[in-house]
Amino acid sequence: MPHVVLPREILPTDGRFGCGPSKIRPEQLSALVGPGAAVLGTSHRQAPVKNLVAGVRSRLADLLRLPAGYEIVVGNGGSTAFWDAAAFGLIERRAQNLVFGEFGGKFAAAAAAPWLEAPDVRKAAPGTSASPEAVEGVDVYAWPHNETSTGVATEIRRVEADAGALTVIDATSAAGGIDVTIAESDVYYFAPQKNLGSDGGLWFAAVSPAAIERIERIAASGRYIPEFLSLKNALDNSRLQQTLNTPALSTLILLDEQLRWIIDNGGLQWADARTHESSDALYAWAEASSVATPFVADPADRSPVVVTIDFDESVDAAAIAASLRHNGIVDTEPYRKLGRNQLRIATFTSIEPDDVRQLIRSIDYTLEHS
Ligand SMILES: Cc1ncc(COP(=O)(O)O)c(C=O)c1O
Repeated sequence: MPHVVLPREILPTDGRFGCGPSKIRPEQLSALVGPGAAVLGTSHRQAPVKNLVAGVRSRLADLLRLPAGYEIVVGNGGSTAFWDAAAFGLIERRAQNLVFGEFGGKFAAAAAAPWLEAPDVRKAAPGTSASPEAVEGVDVYAWPHNETSTGVATEIRRVEADAGALTVIDATSAAGGIDVTIAESDVYYFAPQKNLGSDGGLWFAAVSPAAIERIERIAASGRYIPEFLSLKNALDNSRLQQTLNTPALSTLILLDEQLRWIIDNGGLQWADARTHESSDALYAWAEASSVATPFVADPADRSPVVVTIDFDESVDAAAIAASLRHNGIVDTEPYRKLGRNQLRIATFTSIEPDDVRQLIRSIDYTLEHS
């Protein structure tokens, strides 16, 4: 299909609708070359960078309204590294992993480590969600708050299970864009390249006193734990406002600016309302369309931050995404392994609801002129 040229008046002001890395606001980039310029290229063992880490940890605590005793832990390697760190230092014997997309599946694979019992994997079809179920002997219940590969969001509620069992939530694409009651989880972990509008490479986790106790107990148990993947190491370093090895300073600067912006605007409730406004517009459009439908059939499962829209066979969604890309509207392709005739659109906190409405006009125009 030849590319459709979109009229300027229906283009979004910013064409980035990808699910990660995702839109970084110009004010964040200005922070890099403004106040950040004095910090970039300086030692992460000295006060300026430690103050930056301290500010990020305290603003995250503020944004997430951490209950007493919870702490923010930071480490290198993104959420993928956190999965392996959890296999070494958080799961005592056995995890239950809910899998309804790629990312839940990746944690389940990491939890199948040889020193642990095989995880209790609860699978559900892509586009739906699974629920945790108390099982004797399971000491970690794990699932994603938002499954980025399919656009399914879940409820975060503690599992009534064995005393001491931990609820461990992958919030990589939810944190900063979906409201949450942190007391309903023991570990709420994420990387900052989605709603938090930063770059990749780091992981953060809000950890409960019970999770801290678990981390310390496993670290003292004699289990082999590589230094880079030690949660005890990350906890001790975080308390000193540092990481084991060199962090990406630009990721911290971009994140700090985004946290200030969200908090100044009203925090998580504001962000949640904004992502709902954007995603509701897309779901309503798809429901009214004769060629498109929301991929996630149950409205209760639909994500406010990652909207997946299926097209019928009369439309080539890949050609629509390619045509949009030609006009500067990028990364609307579906998750590569899902293999559907679909567009996947991020409605993260940074993305202007008005830009989502412009995107809808742009998709309509592309459909009409293809
Ligand atoms: C829900 C979820 N978990 C984990 C990851 C992996 O994050 P990272 O690339 O920081 O390892 C992603 C990345 O897209 C994600 O969406």
